[in-house]
Amino acid sequence: MSSISQTVQNRDIRQLGINPNHWYVVARSSEVTNKPIGVVLWQQAIALYRDNQGTVHALEDRCPHRQVKLSHGQVVGSDLECAYHGWRFDSSGECAAVPYLAENQKLPSCKIRSYPVKEQDGFIWLFLGDKTPTVEPLGLPEWDHLNYIATVSIINCQAHYSYLIENLMDMYHGHLHQDLQAWAEAALQDIDEDNHRVDAHYTAQSYYKINKIWSISQLFFPALRRLHPEPLDVSYIYPHWASKLGQDFKIYCLLCPINETQTKAYLVHFTSLNAFWRLHKLPIWFRRFVKDSLFGAAQKLLDGLVVQDVKMIEEEQQAYLQHPDRRNYELNRALVSVQKLMRSQFETSN
Ligand code: FES
Ligand SMILES: [Fe+2]
Repeated sequence: MSSISQTVQNRDIRQLGINPNHWYVVARSSEVTNKPIGVVLWQQAIALYRDNQGTVHALEDRCPHRQVKLSHGQVVGSDLECAYHGWRFDSSGECAAVPYLAENQKLPSCKIRSYPVKEQDGFIWLFLGDKTPTVEPLGLPEWDHLNYIATVSIINCQAHYSYLIENLMDMYHGHLHQDLQAWAEAALQDIDEDNHRVDAHYTAQSYYKINKIWSISQLFFPALRRLHPEPLDVSYIYPHWASKLGQDFKIYCLLCPINETQTKAYLVHFTSLNAFWRLHKLPIWFRRFVKDSLFGAAQKLLDGLVVQDVKMIEEEQQAYLQHPDRRNYELNRALVSVQKLMRSQFETSN
């Protein structure tokens, strides 16, 4: 083992960096307009804006003139104009105009960093690495699919991303959510793992069965729910997470780690309408109407789960900061695999 990998093995997982050579989610598509916004991805302040053609761009959120935030400026054509003295930067980060430049003065060569961005499946994906991306963003094929109803919940937690991933991979924490009736009696069966992902296969009991049109109302009325066994698969597909409960539910967690003690993430829940074969015979416009009107159907459930999880995750982080050398007791071997993957991904980027 090289000395670098020894260092990484010994490094505290709660202080681990990220592998920047991936696509991270920095915003929802709807958040990015022709009014710039500032976001932070792993300590880097980034200005996002949509140009007059509708294309999204990402620049370092710093005007090189006086270091103020470019996200406080405005979009002019495809450029971003600083609020202070009106210097403009094109989408590659090059200074494109200074309003008071004298005839004998040249434009300053003060290029700022621009980041590769993609708008896909309702989100803005940003590649943080210096190299040309060799990977693709994680796809959410259900986002535009007429048979799936989406709900999005935003996670803002004051904790290292490892706590969130461990929470999502450890299905034994159904105990915490008993009152919300998400799943019950999880039991880990098997784990598949490689350098990019960990797939943990559990069996569990699901409360929901979406097989009749009225069964969507199970999302709202607990009395209609009946426990029944379903396979529950959870996957850490670095740096994001995806899960599947039976045939009816898919959930993604799209990560935006902010720093060592702060993580933002988007939890995206899909309820499948695949069981309603009659629905598939209806006109597309009507199916789209059904999909759009039911958007957010699982909002209460999802937001409720997030509140409970965030509380626990933040307590773990606080306890760690107070006593960094206290050891945890881990019984779930999926979490051992997950920590190994976080470490190896960080290591390959160094
Ligand atoms: S600080 Fe941005 S133009 Fe002067
Ligand atoms: Fe949870």
